[in-house]
Amino acid sequence: MAIGIKICSLLSDLLVVLLVVAVTLERGACSSFNRSSFPDGFIFGTSSSSYQSEGAAMEGGKGPSIWDTFTHAHSDGSLSEGINKEVVEFYNNLINELISNGLQPLVTIFHWDLPQALEDKYGGFLSNRIIEDYVDYAEVCFKEFGDRVKHWITFNEPWSFCSFGYASGTSAPGRCSPWAGNCTAGDSGREPYTVCHNQLLAHASAVKVYKNKYQGTQKGKIGITLVSHWFIPYSDSKPDQDAAQRSLDFMYGWFMDPLTRGDYPFSMKAIVGNRLPKFTEQQSELIKGSYDFIGLNYYTTNYAYSVPPSNGLHTSYTTDSQANTTGSFSLALYLSAGNSGSFAVHKDQIRQPSHLHYRERC
Ligand SMILES: *[C@@H]1O[C@H](CO)[C@@H](O)[C@H](O)[C@H]1NC(C)=O
Ligand SMILES: *[C@@H]1O[C@H](CO)[C@@H](O)[C@H](O)[C@H]1NC(C)=O
Ligand SMILES: *[C@@H]1O[C@H](CO)[C@@H](O)[C@H](O)[C@H]1NC(C)=O
Repeated sequence: MAIGIKICSLLSDLLVVLLVVAVTLERGACSSFNRSSFPDGFIFGTSSSSYQSEGAAMEGGKGPSIWDTFTHAHSDGSLSEGINKEVVEFYNNLINELISNGLQPLVTIFHWDLPQALEDKYGGFLSNRIIEDYVDYAEVCFKEFGDRVKHWITFNEPWSFCSFGYASGTSAPGRCSPWAGNCTAGDSGREPYTVCHNQLLAHASAVKVYKNKYQGTQKGKIGITLVSHWFIPYSDSKPDQDAAQRSLDFMYGWFMDPLTRGDYPFSMKAIVGNRLPKFTEQQSELIKGSYDFIGLNYYTTNYAYSVPPSNGLHTSYTTDSQANTTGSFSLALYLSAGNSGSFAVHKDQIRQPSHLHYRERC
């Protein structure tokens, strides 16, 4: 008997990230797959998020989020409206209850449920005005809960928010080009890049505030949670090898390169051109190294093969990588990063399969 892991079942409700389900394995090679297969300090946990599990969409003075709007198809969402004491009390109770039961809270500050009021006011994450509002909101969390919360995650899966919300339009706020799906407005070739650019800037700005004003006394750590599939070339051909690398660049490097190097991957800049926003030198410095840890949600691995560029009239994030993917298989994957302290792995290292440990799922 041993403990196995199932990382993130990709349910139709993509918001659900249920980490770690214990399974019983009786025989075969799998029986040696157990706790000692993971590094010391590897934390097993379970997660929940406000939109999926708390309900209470209109209670306690909460205004609607873009998910309330999306799934059913107003107070102000910014701090100028003041802090909602009822909400602070709710989370204080939750955090205290977790701690008194021996559980360590790891808090994600933003898990896709943007206040609808900010979507209406200036287009939410399409506008760089979101950065200041996001930082104000994060600071409320640090101030109110930082005495007890020692791990902060600024954003959950920015890739999912940008690609599903703005390229395919299948998640809130449901925007895409008219030809790309069932959306009333959007631009699948431009908006995903703008939105994730603003999320990266909001992330880095909040990290700066935490490090400058709170970390010294509160002694917590702050990071971000990304998601990426792994990609393997469909054949040994050079075009397919390049397609696998581009697929990684467009899903993983989109965030990892700014976070570790301060700029987007070369392939993204070359292909996306002026649809991809640029970082100023100052922004690049702000983003580079803006983390104590990086979370990585992993669901599956795909084969990638090269396809010709799309015709240029219908640009979309979904075709910009000039790669199609096929097949998928699950692997348990974890990064061999140190188990504590800062986690700084160079991008060239992190892309080396030798730097990742794979195990076939049993
Ligand atoms: C856990 O796995 C290791 C090998 O990976 C094995 O040596 C050990 O006996 C296993 N422990 C248990 C309790 O199954
Ligand atoms: C598009 O949206 C309309 C209105 O919500 C819905 O009736 C229709 O089934 C949708 N079509 C597709 C292809 O999803
Ligand atoms: C790539 O995928 C798209 C969308 O599924 C499909 O329309 C296209 O034919 C595929 N291209 C190749 C070369 O397989």
